[in-house]
Amino acid sequence: MSTPHIEAQKNQIAKTVLMPGDPLRAKYVAENFLEDVERFNAVRNMFGYTGVYNGRRISVMGSGMGMPSIGIYSYELFKFYDVENIIRIGSCGAYTDTLDLYDVILAERAYSESTYASVQAGEAYEPYTHPSETLNGRIEEIADSLDIELHKGTIHSSDVFYRENFEDFKRIRDTYGAIAVEMEAYALFHNARITGKRAATILTVSDSLVTKQETSPEERQKSFTNMMEIALRLAE
Ligand code: HPA
Repeated sequence: MSTPHIEAQKNQIAKTVLMPGDPLRAKYVAENFLEDVERFNAVRNMFGYTGVYNGRRISVMGSGMGMPSIGIYSYELFKFYDVENIIRIGSCGAYTDTLDLYDVILAERAYSESTYASVQAGEAYEPYTHPSETLNGRIEEIADSLDIELHKGTIHSSDVFYRENFEDFKRIRDTYGAIAVEMEAYALFHNARITGKRAATILTVSDSLVTKQETSPEERQKSFTNMMEIALRLAE
């Protein structure tokens, strides 16, 4: 079988899929953390791999940037490839000065002004979507056992990276309680709900809208090991 965007056979993809935004980060995780790796997708260079971590099978695939992109890939994985769990592992911009570069965030809720969920399901607009409590519970246990501090809170899934009114992030932070911004979780959580599956989002702070600090793409690619270590332990 294949779908318009994934060329894999069903049994080539594990029940749990980690999804970084960047397909090259998926390649990096596969090459540096997994054994017995097989690439199952290269359509549009949106690389996906399945391998073994600590004796357990797990997949990792790029989601692309933004809700339309992760919306397509996560829907196809959940609906047509019998994937049970998708864990987004991404980067985010901090909305508060209590977060530092490289802090790890576990999303408890995603706020968005996006129409993705309402259009997808033909439902009224809801400002928030939610991750799986089961997955979040396991992520907290794993982080605890690895002594990695998790910052839990609401994140903002934005359709816009470059805003003309830069300071508007403060309104979103203060009105909706968002501690950081990324561009995918709201759609991922919606797709999990609509397909009866599970999703979670772990983020590493790559820049701060408050202090204007940022990391380089190379640092981002390599320095996210804390988040990976947590996510890989979710292999079934
Ligand atoms: N905005 C949106 N998404 C992001 C950002 C940001 O500042 N940083 C990392 N992902």
